[in-house]
Amino acid sequence: MTGEHVSARWAHWREQVDLAEYHARWAKLEAAGHSTHGEADLIERYVRQGGRPPSVLDAGCGMGRVAIELHHRGIEVEGADLDADLLAYAQADAPHVVWHLADLAEMALGRTYGVVAMPGNVMLFCAAAVRADVVARCAAHLAPGGLLVAGFSIDGITLDEYDGYCAAAGLALHERFATWEKAPFAGGNYAVSVHRLAG
Ligand SMILES: C[S@@+](CC[C@H](N)C(=O)[O-])C[C@H]1O[C@@H](n2cnc3c(N)ncnc32)[C@H](O)[C@@H]1O
Repeated sequence: MTGEHVSARWAHWREQVDLAEYHARWAKLEAAGHSTHGEADLIERYVRQGGRPPSVLDAGCGMGRVAIELHHRGIEVEGADLDADLLAYAQADAPHVVWHLADLAEMALGRTYGVVAMPGNVMLFCAAAVRADVVARCAAHLAPGGLLVAGFSIDGITLDEYDGYCAAAGLALHERFATWEKAPFAGGNYAVSVHRLAG
């Protein structure tokens, strides 16, 4: 279900949470119009900018919260996660989207995307030992000029570490914000980092 490539923190969350109840709670919020879509808004902006293929991989997509919103906006999006139980909800909610059961540290999906996105603290919920591999495999799925967009709390990982994983994978820092709404980053405890593959 999860395995050694997820962090202890994520394994703990998975043990505690009733997935059906969690999914129903999100669906209720969505139906009541209480969902915020800052992540999808920023990802969509990069897709629409041009200069790269208009396609997105939601890496560590979980139940597909962000990928499904992008799909509803007419964006070509696929999702990848190692958790079959979470992907089953994504598949049920959006059967026309391609969902990959894949460990990000090892994934080889046979194609590239203009944007690979990791919203929802995915970097924190990958085991520390595989974070460099996760970034490298995400980079390997970017088209030339493609962007890796990741938002996570600076908690158990530093931005220097993350930038180092990106540099090792051939990615240069393109933009960094404090929020998905593009507030300027000023050294706070959450960052949205956008790294670019040369080309
Ligand atoms: C907090 S959830 C975020 C889900 C989704 N991105 C969102 O924002 O709603 C973290 C996700 O990372 C996934 N994950 C953690 N380590 C992974 C790995 N090595 N390979 C694939 N998925 C992983 C978990 O299964 C989980 O779905």
